[in-house]
Amino acid sequence: MLDRIKALQHEIEAITAQTKDEAEALRIKYLSKKGLISQLFGEFKNVPDDQKKAMGAAINDLKAFAQDKINSLKDSFSEKKGGSQGADLSLPGESMNLGSRHPLAVVRNEIIDIFARLGFVVSEGPEIEDDWHVFSALNFAPEHPARDMQDTFFIEKDPDVLLRTHTSSVQVRMMEKTQPPIRAIFPGRVFRNEAISARAHCIFHQIEGLYVDENVSFADLKQTLLYFAREFFGEKTEIRLRPSYFPFTEPSAEMDVSCSICGGKGCNVCKYTGWLEIMGCGMVDPNVLELCGIDNQKYTGFAFGMGVERIAMLKYGVKDLRLFFENDVRFLNQFQAAH
Ligand code: PHE
Repeated sequence: MLDRIKALQHEIEAITAQTKDEAEALRIKYLSKKGLISQLFGEFKNVPDDQKKAMGAAINDLKAFAQDKINSLKDSFSEKKGGSQGADLSLPGESMNLGSRHPLAVVRNEIIDIFARLGFVVSEGPEIEDDWHVFSALNFAPEHPARDMQDTFFIEKDPDVLLRTHTSSVQVRMMEKTQPPIRAIFPGRVFRNEAISARAHCIFHQIEGLYVDENVSFADLKQTLLYFAREFFGEKTEIRLRPSYFPFTEPSAEMDVSCSICGGKGCNVCKYTGWLEIMGCGMVDPNVLELCGIDNQKYTGFAFGMGVERIAMLKYGVKDLRLFFENDVRFLNQFQAAH
């Protein structure tokens, strides 16, 4: 019997298991009621009395050894126990996903870079504004429809606490605190009470530009915007300015760029016109200069404002504006390579 105990001891020393199930099978083989060690206990009654003590101790030792060994095999598969025991160190590691910039941030940074090369500095203003900075100082008449609840989000029914509907409010803040020369751009989030669709959202982003100095002319505005358009959309890009109206600029214009998708030949993105509208602009109305404390006899200026989502949609061929706000990684992952 002692020989069998020794043989089992050797056998158990050598056992290994690749899975938890294999370890359980070993427990059944050696330690269950009908297992090999239990069988030894069954045969114990046949052992001569004078050997019972030694033999009993030997079987107990074997059982304890088998329990230890099998438990440690099992432990190596339990997740709670860390360490490398039982882990396959040759398996490839879990790859870490690097984050990427949001496409709107990529486009905003690119636009800022282009104007920075022309000497424009970046400044920002608050998103929660008052009537003065969003409307009154910008020459909006008291009954102008943009002041209506339909277009503007007011906070707590107070007509003087509202979410800015455009970044032109930052023009006012800049002119109030700085005398010319002023050459600045103002990126930021704006809010309008609009139904959300593929083409409109109640939150979007604008980049505003303002240049005020002596002898600033419409030609300066045109040249600045042409430079921007060629840097951003490519050197063959043409621009065109169509007369328009804003309360705070006079004259005012809407700027189109030649369609970067079809090169101006006409496609479904430019609706077969060859042109894409990308921003509003104009010469700062002398009333606005005066309301902001700037001598309108001495200084003139130009301003422009563009929607970042619209430009990002054109640049990347995104057809639905809502994608920019949903943060679906399947969408965002496609911009990994953008800087
Ligand atoms: N604020 C205007 C808008 O939101 C854009 C604009 C800015 C137009 C500056 C002229 C000058 O539509």
